[in-house]
Amino acid sequence: MLKQLFKTKSLDALVVEGEEPEHQLKRVLGAFDVVMLGIGAIIGAGIFATIGTAAAGDFARPGAGPALMLSFVLTGVACGFAALCYAEFAAMVPISGSAYTYSYGTLGELVAWIIGWDLIIEYAVGNVAVAISWANYFKTFVSGFGIIIPDWMSIDYRTAAKIPGLMEHAPHILGVPVIFNLPAFAIVALITFVLVIGIKESSRMNTIMVLIKLVVLGIFVMVGFYYVKPTNWTPFAPNGWSGIQAGAAVVFFAYIGFDAVSTVAEEVRNPKRDLPIGIIGSLIVCTIIYILVAAVFTGIIPYKELVKTLATSQAEPLTLAIQYANIDKYGNLLVGIIAFGSVIAHTAVLLVFQLGQPRIFFSMARDGLLPQSFAKVHPKYRTPYVTTIFTGLAVGITAMFTTIDEMVDLTNIGTLFAFMLVCAGIIILRKKEPDRPRSFKTPFVPWVPILGILACLYLATGLPWITWVRFVGWLILGMAVYFSYGYKRSKLRNEL
Ligand code: ALA
Repeated sequence: MLKQLFKTKSLDALVVEGEEPEHQLKRVLGAFDVVMLGIGAIIGAGIFATIGTAAAGDFARPGAGPALMLSFVLTGVACGFAALCYAEFAAMVPISGSAYTYSYGTLGELVAWIIGWDLIIEYAVGNVAVAISWANYFKTFVSGFGIIIPDWMSIDYRTAAKIPGLMEHAPHILGVPVIFNLPAFAIVALITFVLVIGIKESSRMNTIMVLIKLVVLGIFVMVGFYYVKPTNWTPFAPNGWSGIQAGAAVVFFAYIGFDAVSTVAEEVRNPKRDLPIGIIGSLIVCTIIYILVAAVFTGIIPYKELVKTLATSQAEPLTLAIQYANIDKYGNLLVGIIAFGSVIAHTAVLLVFQLGQPRIFFSMARDGLLPQSFAKVHPKYRTPYVTTIFTGLAVGITAMFTTIDEMVDLTNIGTLFAFMLVCAGIIILRKKEPDRPRSFKTPFVPWVPILGILACLYLATGLPWITWVRFVGWLILGMAVYFSYGYKRSKLRNEL
């Protein structure tokens, strides 16, 4: 039995299955689209919402201060190791299952299932966090036009309980207050609709959104640069290394997404060349942008002032910096532009992750580990519509009722775990199949993957213990699902 559980699927078989007509997706994306999808997935809630806390710190962790720049470098390097490994796999096994598929080919079915189950945390749970953050920014943005969305329909129950008077003022049904996050659900529903219509349409919408967010961050950096006072950068690391490390663990969320590119592998015209370009290219572009934004942000607000601001202001760090800079008559306009850019950036992240999750489910169903209806492709649009709608409902409904912080931590641990397994997979496959053609080769194997594993482990140890408990609980649940469903229906095991 143990042998069967760790039986790997031939990589060639995986590729051939992806080419079966009834399971075929549309190959329409080029290198530019793929880099754009990567940037679309990466720049979002991380840079627009978490850098304030990362720089200032909170009751649970020390702040990085101006050394936030270094936190970004540190996390960027860790992600760089993982990205090089992802690039080798994605070019070699251009299948939409991403890390799930790579594990199936290297570490066997059980590990593949675990990683597929774990990716739900990265994609779906990550998107729950982004949808909630989107709703916050959207609310702020429309309030600039005098449109006030009532609190009771834009918040979750537990956060509402902490706000005095909110419960009492919410409508009641049978004595129970009605509280839910409607905007978070609505944006996920809208995106699900676009994704069902077609991959090219989704990618076009993504490219427009990426351009908008790049322009908005560009405006922030250029205008903000004039208000930077280099004296604000000293002391550079007010809390020393521990502040830098804690900051790095937080901003990891900002980097998640370059790997999501690998889920569109079956829709890329030349995956062997374009996937490595997309994965590594988008990571490099975003790392540079992040370091610049961090430099300007910490150069505008002195650390001492930043720690005095409210957590709610820190959650919108870029607008906070602009307000602090006190830019005469254009200040308000700039705040509006940044809020708009943030809403758009969040939307792009949602789009790419809502696109990735169904494709992983799709691959798992094709292997028999999930119901066959999940492997259906829409006859007209050629999209995995069943899994797209299923993911949309699951993420949208969860986002109506959960709090953001828990979701962010869980996403980070789940993603770090996936990165570690992908790095390990590279070492194993180089031993097992040294002669398999690799259009992109991770340099310095095994050192780069080993450093990748160690760096991810280091970041994961910075997360709260409760996150580890939740993560282990989620994996146990996954095992129960596997042994009661996929174990019996797995195509590979049945062939054996
Ligand atoms: N990297 C994505 C974001 O920051 C998840 O929103």
